[in-house]
Amino acid sequence: MTDFKKITVAPLSTAVGAEIGGVNIAEDLDDATIAEIRQALLHHLVIFFRDQDITDIERHKAFTKRFGELFIHPNFNFGQENAEMVYLTRKPGDKRAAGETWHADTTMMANPPMAAILFALEAPEWGGDTLFANQYMAYETLSDGMKKMLSGLKAVHNDSRVAGPGLGLNAQRATKVREDADWRMTESAHPVVRTHPETGRKGLFLNGIYVHHFEGLTVEESAPLLNFLYDHSCRPEFTCRFRWRTGSVAFWDNRCVQHLAIHDNHEDARRMQRTQIQGDVVR
Ligand code: SIN
Repeated sequence: MTDFKKITVAPLSTAVGAEIGGVNIAEDLDDATIAEIRQALLHHLVIFFRDQDITDIERHKAFTKRFGELFIHPNFNFGQENAEMVYLTRKPGDKRAAGETWHADTTMMANPPMAAILFALEAPEWGGDTLFANQYMAYETLSDGMKKMLSGLKAVHNDSRVAGPGLGLNAQRATKVREDADWRMTESAHPVVRTHPETGRKGLFLNGIYVHHFEGLTVEESAPLLNFLYDHSCRPEFTCRFRWRTGSVAFWDNRCVQHLAIHDNHEDARRMQRTQIQGDVVR
């Protein structure tokens, strides 16, 4: 279904991304509107809303729950109330930013989140855009020989580059992550080519933050092919670029896009509020 009656849908690029209009996501939306939003997400992979207000976390959580169960991110869970809500905050002078290289979210989990809904509480006047890349296209544009080589291959994903004691990220940025001694690494092996459980389409499922090596191969043996696939998977023609305003929302399908948060404005604050939705085992 790409014939929308409840919402308007304006694509941002050929590959990925569309801006949705005609809807206030803070309201209790009817099932038909939610179904159209879901269709737009499946078709465009990431959808954007402007001029929203889900500052009230109950509104943000209620909208998220229309699409699945809320996910609690283990590395942002300090035992606080409302641990489902993650605040991605940049302050002037931050040396690092969360998500500043290409990745899909939280892929060290046995069943990584299906999606994320990111709301801009405060966007800088310029900079801090987010890039998204279509991973179906990344797969479909590989040669038949490469597709054959990747089929059946798994990659080992873990979170040792994004959390844990000794990492030192907390000293360099306002967004804090677990770096305490009780933290334990989470690791899972997933197929390199995944079949999307709703669309049935195949996409590449690799990213440079969480993947360490191919299952059964060493890090050194894996690196050349991984590096080729990382470069390939984010070619400009697979991407779109979203410019944030305060009140903007991005809702991405974590099963078939990678994204990158550009850390190019070191003078202004950028405050985001994010939920994630439980996902399936990767097949
Ligand atoms: C993320 O990687 O989830 C954050 C993206 C952003 O801050 O733009």
